[in-house]
Amino acid sequence: MHQIVRTAARWRAVLSVPGDKSISHRALLFGALASGRSRITRVAPGRDVASTADCLSSLGVRIEREDGNAVVVHGRGPSGLSAPAHDLDAGNSGTTIRLLSGILAGRPFPSVITGDASLRRRPMRRIVEPLERMGGRIETSPEGTAPLRIRGTRLTGADLTLPVASAQLKSCVLLAGLLAEGRTSVTEPAMSRDHTERMLDGMGVRIRRDGLRLELEGPQTPRSCDFDVPGDISSAAFLMVAAACIPESELTIENVGVNPTRTGILDALRRMGCPIEELNPRTLQGEPRADLRIRTASLSGTDIDGDLIPKIIDEIPVLAVAACRARGRTVVRDAAELRVKETDRIAAVARNLSAMGVRAEMFEDGFAIVGPQPLRGAVIDSMEDHRIAMAFTVAGLLAEGETRIEGTECADISYPGFFDLLSGIEYA
Ligand code: S3P
Repeated sequence: MHQIVRTAARWRAVLSVPGDKSISHRALLFGALASGRSRITRVAPGRDVASTADCLSSLGVRIEREDGNAVVVHGRGPSGLSAPAHDLDAGNSGTTIRLLSGILAGRPFPSVITGDASLRRRPMRRIVEPLERMGGRIETSPEGTAPLRIRGTRLTGADLTLPVASAQLKSCVLLAGLLAEGRTSVTEPAMSRDHTERMLDGMGVRIRRDGLRLELEGPQTPRSCDFDVPGDISSAAFLMVAAACIPESELTIENVGVNPTRTGILDALRRMGCPIEELNPRTLQGEPRADLRIRTASLSGTDIDGDLIPKIIDEIPVLAVAACRARGRTVVRDAAELRVKETDRIAAVARNLSAMGVRAEMFEDGFAIVGPQPLRGAVIDSMEDHRIAMAFTVAGLLAEGETRIEGTECADISYPGFFDLLSGIEYA
């Protein structure tokens, strides 16, 4: 599939975005480990979260879909999971394969988890090594990738220091620790998104934080809990950058999750000169949320690096688009993790910016763009990566002439309805 995108002006709208993908995965997984019934509302409707639900169903967990995006998970505690009859398919979803591996490594049955071609290229040794330190037995391909063949053994807690700030890795070992015997501690080099800690805490799990170190004692069974998922700030980011750059725009996005480990895009846009308002701030079930109001602004370049990177990691492709509009130099460094996302996102940004006539300097761990530079309509390759497809759709809204985005079906991974929403705003 492809989409044609044309220059936009005067975006005026009040809207909402789908539920947060990271929180939705966790609500399903933790609900399955709990004993009792957890009702989750505004679950992310995309394909990634459907992969988690399908894997859980294959493990014997009953998940009932209600009207809208509500689901009820009937948890029967960790021992309620049963051996799957076939290989589990995590599709495109890194969060599904990594978090589920942490759970399955310590269950008393074998399992195999695999995924699509993109997921089968992504690094899995980073989870296998710490799980092995806890007694886990997991085989990868010779390249250290999926399929993962999990033997299923009794795990014991360990003290682990992680080499990268990755919430998927941290959550994988926390879940393994939750079901293992004894104490597990995890220390990460910088703070990654902390939904796992917040949500487990809300489900009665005793988990302590001391700076970048987390500690819990296993085994523990979470309490079932109803959960209302806030809007996904990573999806809102595309609309925020569009509204900041499209002339004479004002956009309000209601009920967006503003957990401080996720709000790097707000920090970055504010530093670039776009004053984003946070209206009606409130916290529900440990996760802060607010309505975000964005108006068109004249942007200037900024530096994005260090501890800010994990807080903005998924928004960097669309930030590159904002950088083309900003006066001066925008430099992103310390973001080598982008090379191992759904695609190599540094290479994908370089290739598509160049197709649109933008000169950018690329580094192993980031890029530099000196703006403002005009964007020219072009043919864009999504590389089957949802965030690349949507970031360059925003570029198309800002470009002169027509942009054709190839391979747009991948937007359904995190944001089904993205293109319908855009045509609705444009012609409203
Ligand atoms: C996620 C963590 C991030 C992010 C991904 C979702 C999660 O990856 O890029 O889209 O749900 O835990 P890291 O594991 O690199 O933090």
